[in-house]
Amino acid sequence: MSSEAASPLPPGPKGRRLRNLRQRTTDYTRFMRRLHRDYGEIVSYELPLMKCCAVFDADLIREILVTQQGFFKPWFPGDLRDDWKYGSISLHQGDEQRGRHEFMTSAFAGDSASAYAEIVAEKALALRDACRPGRALDVVKEFERFTWDALVEIILGRGVEIPRRLGEDILESEKVYLILDILPGAKRLKSLPIPAVRRGRGSVRLVDEAIYGSMQRARDTDYAGADIVTKYTRARDLEGAAGPLDNDQAIRDELIILLTGFIDAPTGTLAFGVHHLARNPDVRSRIEREVDEVLGDREIVAGDFDRLPYLRAVLKEVLRLDPPAPILLPKEAIEDRVVGGCLIPKGTLVHVGMRELHHRAEYWEDASEFRPERWLEDPPPPRPPCPAHGYIPFGLGPHTCRGIDVAERLFVFGMATLARQLRLEPETGAEPQRNNTAVGVTGPWMVNVRRRPEA
Ligand code: HEM
Repeated sequence: MSSEAASPLPPGPKGRRLRNLRQRTTDYTRFMRRLHRDYGEIVSYELPLMKCCAVFDADLIREILVTQQGFFKPWFPGDLRDDWKYGSISLHQGDEQRGRHEFMTSAFAGDSASAYAEIVAEKALALRDACRPGRALDVVKEFERFTWDALVEIILGRGVEIPRRLGEDILESEKVYLILDILPGAKRLKSLPIPAVRRGRGSVRLVDEAIYGSMQRARDTDYAGADIVTKYTRARDLEGAAGPLDNDQAIRDELIILLTGFIDAPTGTLAFGVHHLARNPDVRSRIEREVDEVLGDREIVAGDFDRLPYLRAVLKEVLRLDPPAPILLPKEAIEDRVVGGCLIPKGTLVHVGMRELHHRAEYWEDASEFRPERWLEDPPPPRPPCPAHGYIPFGLGPHTCRGIDVAERLFVFGMATLARQLRLEPETGAEPQRNNTAVGVTGPWMVNVRRRPEA
């Protein structure tokens, strides 16, 4: 589809930039729901210094993410870090992204997939040990630590430990950048001595030491680790096959984002899992029965993933109702484009409303109900009238998630290990607080830990 100057702009609220910004940063999901309800499947709106567009219809979403994706470039604050010049796979397009994609896919595949599953199973036991019965705890923090500890070993190798605080500092400083970037005068604001940004810089240096240390270890031929840094380093040194990552800093740039940027999504999924289980005691009992039958008296092992179909269905339903990335990373139109008969002018940031898509009454029976059983029907969803691209918790097109196997195991092993002995009961009926500037949820979200009556 080509650009046509005669096409109209999508409908939407005119002006109201500051009000839009306020509503968006207060409750992004509600803001998007309102745009969809009031203006339809493709909507234009403005923020200070930004033209934005939101799409909700499955076919329009496919246009943006697949058919016309070459014209919609992932957007992120431009000068996030001056020491991050090679960026991450998520921000590249075309050949550069394809090269990184092929390499990252191979790094997560084959023998490594079972090695990574073992790491997740082990860390799930540590998660359970941290949740001591009789205590009230901020479960978001515990899920973050679980995910972080697992990713550190998957990416940097067995036995590597990095304090979780460093990852938190880095993410915190990135969130500050994200907020500054949608404010007027962002460049000047970023040069101010903001404590969170300074802390973030210090923590980046420490995480760098760990990454470069693991690269060093990968170059020792006696080292037999299956971790991601070893795969990248050896492929570059020996085979010249690490895609466009042809120097140490390029590998470091890719890995620091892999390490810090993908903690929030698994954490948010686990937190919403706890929330839905507490509201649906029948589902919780069925999970407990499944876990008891499969595990009996033993602890979880990597191979148990395929033996827990109901828990996998619960994950799918959590990702449908409360995907941790309810709105995908913005995609910037690099030229005027026409989508769904409307003009999306060059420079517009396009937001894909995934959560709205997953809640459509015409696609899902009892769309707003938490019903994991729907995923065990034959054939399983999505089925007509819902198109295959009507359910996209891991994205769609070239930028589809690379960590799906790890993400699924974090949920299934984490929940199974807890369910074997414990029940986490949220202190209030309130759902976890969504992170309105990025992905996942923000803590604290307090739960009471109780021992299962029969455990
Ligand atoms: C429940 C957990 C997760 C969910 C729901 C999730 C979801 C997503 C989504 C929706 C995207 C596409 C973003 C876009 O197009 O804007 C994405 C990309 C990505 N995810 Fe995940 N993710 C999860 C966990 C993980 C984990 C644990 C890792 C790594 C270990 C990971 C690695 C990636 C990477 C590298 C990309 C970028 C791919 C590219 O741009 O080519 N994800 N994820």
